[in-house]
Amino acid sequence: MRIPRRTATPRRYLMCPPTHFQVSYAINPWMNPGKPVDLALAQAQWEDLRDRYRALGHTVEELAPRPGLPDMVYAANGATVVDGRVLGARFAFAERQGEAAVHARWYRDHGFADVGTPQHVNEGEGDFAVTASWLLAGRGFRSSPLSHAEAQEYFARPVIGLDLVDPRFYHLDTALCVLGGGGRPGGGAAEGAAEVMYYPGAFSAGSRAVLARLFPDALLAGAADAAAFGLNAVSDGLHVLLPQAAVGLFEPLRARGYEPIGMDLAELMKGGGSVKCVTGELRSA
Ligand code: ARG
Repeated sequence: MRIPRRTATPRRYLMCPPTHFQVSYAINPWMNPGKPVDLALAQAQWEDLRDRYRALGHTVEELAPRPGLPDMVYAANGATVVDGRVLGARFAFAERQGEAAVHARWYRDHGFADVGTPQHVNEGEGDFAVTASWLLAGRGFRSSPLSHAEAQEYFARPVIGLDLVDPRFYHLDTALCVLGGGGRPGGGAAEGAAEVMYYPGAFSAGSRAVLARLFPDALLAGAADAAAFGLNAVSDGLHVLLPQAAVGLFEPLRARGYEPIGMDLAELMKGGGSVKCVTGELRSA
């Protein structure tokens, strides 16, 4: 089999240090407030990821953490940024609602002119994944189905709604990762060969069929790699940063021309998130 040549493009990411991270409540099945968190280790693992992005040539912006918002480290949930336009988040649970305004403020202070305040619950890139010209959007546990239409109107991109059915994979980014490809950015119908990897078991039968139709060559993850949060990954088009424990994904990624980079974010996994959850992507126009 011929291995495709992949190229990395420089990205701009937003991360929030886990200074106030703790598991003091449980809003997903991974969270157990009775289990201690090693904050120094969480910080070291988080810095490792940040430094790895920078070593790969990416820009990492840091959002200042706030006390009382222990899940702020999952910076992907605070907004969705496509073509330089920002759609703010609206969180499903009261415990996280305060994060939305902190993110919106950050964007306004950092030169983003369009920062939309949503009507409907959406948890940012937790449930919105961006391909070359579409948005894939999760629903079932967090983001409201109504947020999909709202995002379509705001970003003027087709939104493809996907039903999540397994509570362990409560956000789309725990079950699916856009790897790359997909033709020209913003390029109309030129979605072409967008590459994704996903765990079919996280989706309803109809959504599995939609994914198979849109992405016939997708890399399908098995249950063990999905449970290791292997789909909670970040790709720059070449390098794919993912939890080290998702060992079964490394070879299939290499066979597709990607360079997997295993990361250890075990402390942050105690809150129900890994590489992608802690990484927001600031996509310019
Ligand atoms: N404890 C957080 C929550 O349940 C984890 C969020 C993980 N983020 C993500 N993008 N999946 O909301």
